Amino acid sequence: MAVPLFDTATPLAPLRAEIDVAMARVLDSGRFILGPEVAAFEQEFAAYCGAAHAVGVANGTEALTIALRAMGVGPGDDVVVPSFTFYASAEAIPPTGARPVFCDVDPDSACATAETVRAALTPATKAVIAVHLFGNVAPVAEIEALGVPVLEDAAQAAGSRSDGGRPGALGTAATFSFFPAKNLGAFGDGGAITTADETLADRVRTLRLHGSRDKISYEQVGYNSRLDELQAAILRVQLPHLDGWADGRRAAGDHYAEAGLGELVTLPAPAAGAQPAWHLYVVRSAHADELAEALAGATIGCRAYYRTPVHRQPAMAPFGAHARLPATDELARTHLALPMSPVLTAGQAAEVVAAAPTYSDR
Ligand SMILES: Cc1ncc(COP(=O)(O)O)c(C=O)c1O
Repeated sequence: MAVPLFDTATPLAPLRAEIDVAMARVLDSGRFILGPEVAAFEQEFAAYCGAAHAVGVANGTEALTIALRAMGVGPGDDVVVPSFTFYASAEAIPPTGARPVFCDVDPDSACATAETVRAALTPATKAVIAVHLFGNVAPVAEIEALGVPVLEDAAQAAGSRSDGGRPGALGTAATFSFFPAKNLGAFGDGGAITTADETLADRVRTLRLHGSRDKISYEQVGYNSRLDELQAAILRVQLPHLDGWADGRRAAGDHYAEAGLGELVTLPAPAAGAQPAWHLYVVRSAHADELAEALAGATIGCRAYYRTPVHRQPAMAPFGAHARLPATDELARTHLALPMSPVLTAGQAAEVVAAAPTYSDR
């Protein structure tokens, strides 16, 4: 039986009637931009994260650029960012005028650590982007103890928890993506910025609206970057289910471990104190490409997301050419995402394991 790489439809099916009602409410209201649904979602999402403020924006990439600018990042500044991440984590930096400086990651958690960040600090470092990759939770407090503000890239970590709190409430600010395949997914693009800092939240609100408070007077060169009312209404239906879905993702990880996957490949490890809501379940193997071929042959979804790490991408040549990031290069070569969803069953996990060949070296 085929096992899909992810399954967004099954968890949403029982919510269909409620989503239809929410969408009809927006259509009937005639309010589509920055109305009551966005305001209510912002309050509900801030409360969920344990942050004082949430501000809805158009997507997770603009969320990063806007948050960095609100944190005062601009021309002449450096921003430390892992190279083993989705390209947007770094792509969002140059539009502020600042320069990305790439850091390595811990091979077990796939997240940056205080040590890997320290090695990348420069006299011009203004901020660090800590990516909670694959739903794991980066050690934000330890990184912030280096004396630099941390922006959490929590695009992949809605629903995750850590001993220090939830992603979204760990750093100076945090950004989320509501791209449809994310743990909390809209029916189109969407994003949010969370923070405990009222002044920062105010700057973000202005930046998302063309640098204006009222579209009469323009204080800054900003963005047209808003979460739509329709998307906010859909996200409000889903938010109460996020913790249950996160439990399902963790249970799916347990199913893999119980089925013996750890004897064939290296399993992802929660960072210290983290309870990840696995967005992607990414294993490591010295034979990742052969493994992918074998799984694909058995109609099991799998994908190497970041074979070429960001610092080696052509567009990042001006910033990444001299970076030496051994753990990143190794992860880029060996990682493979296996099927993961809130509803992945023990039977499906066993099928994946049964289709994976045994290699004498993992
Ligand atoms: C780690 C990370 N950062 C940023 C983004 C950008 O989010 P978006 O696609 O909503 O712009 C994504 C997702 O696509 C992501 O996975």
